Amino acid sequence: MTSKRRPLLAGNWKMNGTRASLDQIKAIGDGVKTSLSEKLDVLLCPPVSLLYVATALCDDSPLAIGAQDCHQKASGAHTGDISAEMIADCFGTHVIVGHSERRRDHDESDDLIRAKAEAAYAADLIAVICIGETEAERKAGETLEVLKRQLGASVPENATAKSTVIAYEPVWAIGTGLTPTLADVAEAHDFIRSTLAERFGEEAKGIRLLYGGSANPGNARVLIAVDNVDGLLVGGASLKAADFLAMYGAYGELLA
Ligand code: 13P
Repeated sequence: MTSKRRPLLAGNWKMNGTRASLDQIKAIGDGVKTSLSEKLDVLLCPPVSLLYVATALCDDSPLAIGAQDCHQKASGAHTGDISAEMIADCFGTHVIVGHSERRRDHDESDDLIRAKAEAAYAADLIAVICIGETEAERKAGETLEVLKRQLGASVPENATAKSTVIAYEPVWAIGTGLTPTLADVAEAHDFIRSTLAERFGEEAKGIRLLYGGSANPGNARVLIAVDNVDGLLVGGASLKAADFLAMYGAYGELLA
């Protein structure tokens, strides 16, 4: 993280959290009311059931609230789905698209994910587009090839540094306590940056690249110091305000 890109620390609660968890959201919202938030963005993506209450709870906080998925259409007969417009209507500002759990559980393709990101842009949401290789792909030495394919097909043609964040989440590192070596994180992030530069030129320099997969208060400091890591996408460790705020605090030293 050596550039002028403003870091982004993001939490993804996945299918966790009920009204009883609102005190954690409030604690995170309150905890980021410090001068450090002048230097970095903090985002929390609770389940959509808590979205509207969460934005209301945090309306006096620099904490941004987002969603974890959206439909590719603006509205219509799609029972059970949520549109980007609905997220924006709840004052959400970001939406995660293409998380590996969506790719796996709902067979989401790169083409669908690109359409979802386009829907996000149309509703003025920032799309956090996730990519990452499986364990088998890494073992087969296909990591960079997979990242290139996913970037090529799931990032829209009109992506900009303002509208788009890319999250590199190796599937095998998610929820497992395993993380790639720092050299592997650096290799993947450098590769993502240069692949984006081939397509988007100068604009690619401003696109923020997050690392996700077993990031926690213990390893945050070293991960955020890796070149081209512009922030973290945190699952399990974002559920407890104390853990997530400890990771926020890790930026204190880096940005001092
Ligand atoms: P964990 O931090 O629980 O490994 O999850 C990472 C993730 O998938 C965030 O989107």
